[in-house]
Amino acid sequence: MLAEVEALQASNAEELENLRIKYLSKKGAITALMADFRNVPAEQKKEVGIKINELKNKAQEKLNELREAFGSSDSEDNSIDITRTAYPIALGTRHPLSLVKNEIIDIFARLGFSLAEGPEVEDDWHVFSSMNFAEDHPARDMQDTFFVEAHPDIILRTHTSSVQSRVMEKQQPPIRIICPGRVYRNEAVSARAHCFFHQVEGLYVDENVSFTDLKQVLLLFAREMFGEDTQIRLRPSYFPFTEPSAEMDVSCTLCKGQGCSMCKGSGWLEILGCGMVHPNVLELNGIDSTKYKGYAFGMGVERIANLKYQVKDLRMFSENDVRFLKEFEAAN
Ligand code: DAH
Repeated sequence: MLAEVEALQASNAEELENLRIKYLSKKGAITALMADFRNVPAEQKKEVGIKINELKNKAQEKLNELREAFGSSDSEDNSIDITRTAYPIALGTRHPLSLVKNEIIDIFARLGFSLAEGPEVEDDWHVFSSMNFAEDHPARDMQDTFFVEAHPDIILRTHTSSVQSRVMEKQQPPIRIICPGRVYRNEAVSARAHCFFHQVEGLYVDENVSFTDLKQVLLLFAREMFGEDTQIRLRPSYFPFTEPSAEMDVSCTLCKGQGCSMCKGSGWLEILGCGMVHPNVLELNGIDSTKYKGYAFGMGVERIANLKYQVKDLRMFSENDVRFLKEFEAAN
């Protein structure tokens, strides 16, 4: 019977149970042998006893082996995890523009700036007039505007500078705000331009604010954003809402100022516009320009993201191609 037990096979729980009944249950063959044991002559008891025990152990071992081989279906079965989700769910990740925007906000929050927001559908006053763009001034053409057809006064904001006005009309200095948001311009969509993009605006108005304060804050920002060894330079520029105005460059993030294709050999990359808030802007928004001064700056989020991640085509940011978005998983 030993050889017979060794050769046992079962392919499901029912067959296995039948084998158990056949050999090891109360009426099983091995149990019957054990019951007969008392009839064995005394001088053979030892030898037979060892054999029966061996057979019983072997049978038990074999049944256990078979049970493990196909897994039993009783309540102890752990092979099915009923708490597991039905399919692998890929978690979403933050969009690269949100990552960069949040990083910008974080840096300025540490410098004491608080968050402010305004509407994307704006009126001419907040976008242009209150920002010292005179009626029919050619500076209005610097930014190609989308108009709402039936309401020529209602437009899609072309810059987040409109939020400066939204805040100043309600609040007296000290004002220290950072304003992220989407802006729109009537541009043909290409790798380098889009009809909508994102900006972050900064504004600080208080007594005794100087250009030195502006420069120091921007230097700190550049070093936090692009690394300790980043250099900045300010070039004179023109914006209707600041006087004096400047554009800021940072040393090229790729070649560290040596000159490469990204910085077109110059070693510098332009990242934002800034300046001292024009006294007209303060007055137009109800703030006494003899008492208060301010600085302001505005930067493009896509531009900063491009420099950080070398994204070659602006359209990638709004196409929602999962392969592109997945590349930023590690940065999340
Ligand atoms: N609004 C400007 C633009 O969209 C950017 C800008 C420049 C904002 C200078 C400012 C500033 O606050 O001071 O091009």
